[in-house]
Amino acid sequence: MSATFLSACKERVFNKINSLLVEDDKVTSSMKYSALADSKCIRAGLVFASGNLKKNLNDSALTDLATSIELMHTYSLIHDDLPSMDNDDMRRGQPSNHIIFHEATSILAGDALQALAYEVIASSKDIKDKQKIEIIKTLTSSCGHQGMILGQQYDLDAEKDEYHDIKKIHLLKTAKLIQAAITLPYLGLYEYKDTYKILQKLGEKLGLAFQIMDDVLEISSNSETLGKNNNSDIKNSKMTYVSVFGLEESIQQAEKISNSCINEIKKKFSSKESKELIELANYMVARTH
Ligand code: IPE
Ligand code: IPE
Ligand code: MG
Ligand code: MG
Repeated sequence: MSATFLSACKERVFNKINSLLVEDDKVTSSMKYSALADSKCIRAGLVFASGNLKKNLNDSALTDLATSIELMHTYSLIHDDLPSMDNDDMRRGQPSNHIIFHEATSILAGDALQALAYEVIASSKDIKDKQKIEIIKTLTSSCGHQGMILGQQYDLDAEKDEYHDIKKIHLLKTAKLIQAAITLPYLGLYEYKDTYKILQKLGEKLGLAFQIMDDVLEISSNSETLGKNNNSDIKNSKMTYVSVFGLEESIQQAEKISNSCINEIKKKFSSKESKELIELANYMVARTH
């Protein structure tokens, strides 16, 4: 993966977050602590790579979309690490939010990051109102009780031997937000309905492959490289792709999904417009952290 592409995406998003979170009260400090920590910004990268396909939105609009998705993602991670959830004390190479801030403040910081994610879209000067409504609708359904939150509930249930299909869990808890990231630039635009449909399918598959690799890396890497605990799934008796299919089979499934996505991208888009998206699709499974 071209590191320069992702670091350029990250710089734009971090500049925007810095402009949004200027106060230094407790909850804002807690939000900044996690939102500006060392993350990969893959979802932001997907927004820009997707936007670069047809270039229908300008950079400022794409920055708003990417920032919104990264704020939403950061909120989900702060809550995911809480003692009542995965109980993880390390994230993005530093102590988890609730280790530094009061647990209650971390809950509030997550809540506020979610609200801010919507506000960034609603206040964007470079996205048409008609499109904003469709974007907000997609974000709510991707992250709400029929999306990411339902996936998180299934993930918790599975710790207690309540059976849910592992693919279903991953599609909900992780792929929904990744699918939103890749489709947002084309929402609510009739002239791009075919592009949107292609990206919707790709987003779901890439999101699944991404979470399979998250399960794989947790077993095959170490906490220093990952910047987060590498024994969380075992400690919590989580059902993961690796616990269901084994390490080798999980890697094979992730690679197969990523390869089929890349073939699909090559079929549907020119090599010039899809260069970054192909690189990202590769990186999402070939990454080391
Ligand atoms: C971690 O996501 C949580 C999952 C949904 C797998 P990332 O691996 O993208 O984490 P950051 O944003 O780089 O910290
Ligand atoms: C995180 O899934 C999914 C969400 C936060 C929605 P995991 O719990 O598997 O991810 P990590 O391993 O803690 O990053
Ligand atoms: Mg979790
Ligand atoms: Mg977790």
